[in-house]
Amino acid sequence: MNFGKVILGGVIALAAIQLVPYGRNHKNPAVTGTPNWDSPRTQELFDRACKDCHSNNTVWPWYSSIAPVSWLTQIDVNLGREAFNVSEWGRPTENEGEKAAGEVREGKMPMFIYLPAHPAAKLSVTEKDELVKGLVATFGDESVKGKGKGAEKRGADKDKDKD
Ligand code: HEC
Repeated sequence: MNFGKVILGGVIALAAIQLVPYGRNHKNPAVTGTPNWDSPRTQELFDRACKDCHSNNTVWPWYSSIAPVSWLTQIDVNLGREAFNVSEWGRPTENEGEKAAGEVREGKMPMFIYLPAHPAAKLSVTEKDELVKGLVATFGDESVKGKGKGAEKRGADKDKDKD
């Protein structure tokens, strides 16, 4: 196979997909409501690790305008805002705040794909603990509430297994 042709094909394909306009309109929607944060510290940690996908104050880096990264970031921000948006607090559709602490505790959020380009979002063990406590205080904690009395202990055991 002709390696030069493969490279050229790749360059042409990359150039061609730039013509797809999806994901390049980075106008953030207006802030219509904010939660009652339990402390400035919780908000600070949330801003570092979560706000790009869970608020209308998204910072769009230059590479988020280049396909196919632009498509992926747009999809993540759209889905993230849809599930949980601290800039549209109190909107009539569901806003999954009570799941936030559990997501961080289980290491599901922030999304791993986000971390290499956002080192500030990599929280230390202490910071993660602070954020979980702040999220519980601000939004409640479904992972405990939903499962009755033993849930908190089960949660603690699970954390221990991970360390
Ligand atoms: C790179 C974008 C991104 C970042 C950063 C991010 N999230 Fe998400 N989040 C998503 C997406 C996309 C979804 C919806 C799909 C899913 O549930 O995986 C989501 C879903 C959620 C949900 C709803 C879960 C459910 O089961 O309905 C919560 C709560 C949440 N995220 C909290 C957080 C918290 C807290 C942080 C910061 C520690 C964070 N996220 C960081 C993209 C992100």
